[in-house]
Amino acid sequence: MQIIPNLNFGFKDAENYKRKENRELFNKIFLRTDAIDKLCQNNIFFLLGEKGTGKTAYAVYLINNNYKNTTAILGNIGETEYQKFITLKKEKHLSLSDYANIWKVIIYLLLSEKIFRKEISTPQFSNFSKFRDLKKAIDEYYANAFTPEIIYALSVIEQSKIVAELIAKYAKAGGEESSQVSFTENRFQTNLLYIQKHFEDALRVFKLSGNHVLFIDGIDTRPSSIPYEDYLECVKGLASAIWSINNDFFSSIKDSGGRLRVVLIARPDIFDKLELHNRNNKIGDNSVLLDWQTTYNTYRTSPLFSLTDRLLSSQQNTKLSEGQAWDYYFPYTISSRGKENDSSFISFLRYSYYRPRDIITMLIILRDNFNQQGKNVNSVFSQDDFDHLDFRRKYSEYLLGEIKDHLAFYYSPSDYQLFLKFFEYLKGKVSFSYSEYLEAFKNYSNFLDENIKKIIMKPTFVLTADGFLQFLYELNIICYVEETEDSDIFLRFCFRERNPSDISPKVKTHLRYEIFYGISRALNLGKKLK
Ligand SMILES: Nc1ncnc2c1ncn2[C@@H]1O[C@H](COP(=O)(O)OP(=O)(O)O)[C@@H](O)[C@H]1O
Ligand SMILES: [Mg+2]
Repeated sequence: MQIIPNLNFGFKDAENYKRKENRELFNKIFLRTDAIDKLCQNNIFFLLGEKGTGKTAYAVYLINNNYKNTTAILGNIGETEYQKFITLKKEKHLSLSDYANIWKVIIYLLLSEKIFRKEISTPQFSNFSKFRDLKKAIDEYYANAFTPEIIYALSVIEQSKIVAELIAKYAKAGGEESSQVSFTENRFQTNLLYIQKHFEDALRVFKLSGNHVLFIDGIDTRPSSIPYEDYLECVKGLASAIWSINNDFFSSIKDSGGRLRVVLIARPDIFDKLELHNRNNKIGDNSVLLDWQTTYNTYRTSPLFSLTDRLLSSQQNTKLSEGQAWDYYFPYTISSRGKENDSSFISFLRYSYYRPRDIITMLIILRDNFNQQGKNVNSVFSQDDFDHLDFRRKYSEYLLGEIKDHLAFYYSPSDYQLFLKFFEYLKGKVSFSYSEYLEAFKNYSNFLDENIKKIIMKPTFVLTADGFLQFLYELNIICYVEETEDSDIFLRFCFRERNPSDISPKVKTHLRYEIFYGISRALNLGKKLK
């Protein structure tokens, strides 16, 4: 077995596995769960999951590998792209449907580029004159140097007149009969539709040799410089374009050797904000929802355990049986639930939201601490390492950081500080009743009224007591506690209650509540204050 300092747990964010030098490692550690097979189905247009559940990882796996005759590319949307959209909106007075049309052209362009690259060597390529002519126009526009990224594709939108003219030129040279067309700067919408139509005509007749998927990632972070409303408009346009392209266009192409698809990557709470028509059906029929739930009793056969064990076993020179690597590195038992010898993995579950990133982060901290503390390299982990104050501190800082990111999506950084202030009013309690909560909220609310009224607006999350309770619940900071008639206790966390038919579960009022185990230290709870 490898010694602990030699263990490589890879990266906490799967973005890194796009880089060539990390691909081999990723292929070794990636666990192909049912979700990867489902993701290859033609009816899947949305890849959903909380932060750290592996959304980017699944997309990257399909970028790096040809799996089930499916290959993929990834388009990332970030600050520069949003900024471009806002500028376009101002200059060209755009509406929501214009946004969707812009996105359509971007999506076609990126996918076409991928087809150019993948299929150009196939004998059929030259038979498809429409596609060939389109490629000539694009090549001329970009001087043969198109980089398949959203930001470069956006330039076609800005220069829609020039691009439309080039497309018309090559179409005519290729023998397309068309009445004389002319394009002007200020008929932006017309230019755009002309470009869109040419892409659609070319894509409709092309015979593919495999399935091509374009993933769009990055809508989960809203850069602080982009106002929420502008962001939302842009992303709503994107979602509507994705729906329409997949459902109305790509699915109508018959007798091609492969399928085209564009898949949006999103957190469930954000997907919820996109206000897609018939949202619940779309989640059921057209999404993959990544979910790693398991129970303390059945964890050993769970994908989450397999993933963790694989991370450890894939680095060994010999083939191990399932669970063998885990048992070697974490050979101790813990006492929990009144039992003396529960598996060491239970404490990992207990401190996590059942997300791969949580587990990987714990492993990374444990290994780094092991190295820093100068332990005997031939020893393995013990419960002391897990109980170590330094481990607990670093891990709860990580969890708080994830919450901060989640919050940053809706609110400004100063609101985050205000948000944290609430926990002081719980007076150290990790478990509290509804009336204790109301009391704490009242005091918190008074504090805000006295202190921030004149400077900034109160963030909307603190408008009502029940609204704030729901907010804490969605952040998975609290759960509500339900007791059955025979005194069984259930801790209802949002991430556990969520399922395809209930993507944003609601908190129940008038019950008891508990703060999530792993985070209480970072919030300074668990100790009675004087
Ligand atoms: N099926 C899997 N096999 C191996 N590692 C995974 C798998 N799913 C997720 N991970 C790992 O979990 C971490 C978080 O995944 P990531 O895709 O970055 O999350 P998200 O995009 O949902 O926030 C990454 O280190 C990723 O490699
Ligand atoms: Mg991601």
